[in-house]
Amino acid sequence: MLPVVDAANLSLDRRQAVGIVGESGSGKTMLCRALIGTLARHGAEITAGTVRFGGLDLAAASERVWRGIRGREIGYIPQSSLAGLNPVLTVETQLVESISAMGTLSRRQARDKAVELLERVRIPRAPQVLKARGHQLSGGMRQRVMIAAAIAQSPKLLIADEPTTALDVTIQREILSLITQLRHELNMALVLVSHDLAVIEDVCDDVMVMYAGASVESGPVAALSKTPRHPYTRALRVSRVDRALPGQDLDAIPGDAASVGSWPAGCRFWPRCSHADEECRRGSQPALMPIGRQLSACIHAERLVVGEQLPAVANQEDSARRRK
Ligand SMILES: Nc1ncnc2c1ncn2[C@@H]1O[C@H](COP(=O)(O)OP(=O)(O)OP(=O)(O)O)[C@@H](O)[C@H]1O
Ligand SMILES: [Mg+2]
Repeated sequence: MLPVVDAANLSLDRRQAVGIVGESGSGKTMLCRALIGTLARHGAEITAGTVRFGGLDLAAASERVWRGIRGREIGYIPQSSLAGLNPVLTVETQLVESISAMGTLSRRQARDKAVELLERVRIPRAPQVLKARGHQLSGGMRQRVMIAAAIAQSPKLLIADEPTTALDVTIQREILSLITQLRHELNMALVLVSHDLAVIEDVCDDVMVMYAGASVESGPVAALSKTPRHPYTRALRVSRVDRALPGQDLDAIPGDAASVGSWPAGCRFWPRCSHADEECRRGSQPALMPIGRQLSACIHAERLVVGEQLPAVANQEDSARRRK
């Protein structure tokens, strides 16, 4: 079996919001599936490590234990959940599944609860929307319904995997602000996945940066924003979409992300890193080490000093040469 995530490290307290950021293929979704116990549905499994939730070790939990946790204690908005809403079924039919898990309710009670949930996610004219079918709703409304299903049982933790990626910017903002409001109303902790650091900086307390199946940096968003201690975090900041000037190309990170099955030896980021030296290419992926208020997996983290200009990240030629 090929490892897809092998050095992820994430922790959060009650009511805390932590963002996971990283390029496509870095393992964000696989990590979420590990946290919600659905890896087996995707032909994957946890072979090492722990997933602790309260006093439980969920890495080894049986499906019976998971049934008491999934949806109840941990809510989940899967990636591409917009596609998850059946276009031909009514919203009511689709919400009832999440609601019926709460125990035996009469049809009337279930319907009232569904209306309450739609109101909770700020859907106007909830009784009418309940009768609507998936295809009749806008993307933003569909995502609100998916959020309603995820919070139906007032979970202690909500995991939202790229909940706004397919939506336009205005709707994105509304959905993020809804998630934030719900988090406070329901006293939930939040794991928010995004490939966009700006989104995470707006919504979360902490951030964990993933690269090629590993956590490369984590800590308070303000610390990572002011003093990123891993060249990959720095490169992500440079390539931030909201920093691009109109008419200018996005300053993308050069080179290709290391893909599963061909991670380089040493630090997995070295072929794309302008700071890399011989030492970086040896051994295995460096462990996270404390530095300042954060953790960094860069062995040269000390050198990335405060006030230093954001690095000119290695260009394509450089990284191609290094890979040889
Ligand atoms: N069911 C699966 N079986 C085996 N490998 C998988 C499976 N799903 C994803 N992968 C691989 O695991 C790696 C991590 O995938 P994952 O979907 O977690 O990335 P991601 O960070 O969520 O990316 P994106 O930003 O595109 O959603 C990828 O290389 C992917 O090809
Ligand atoms: Mg994903």
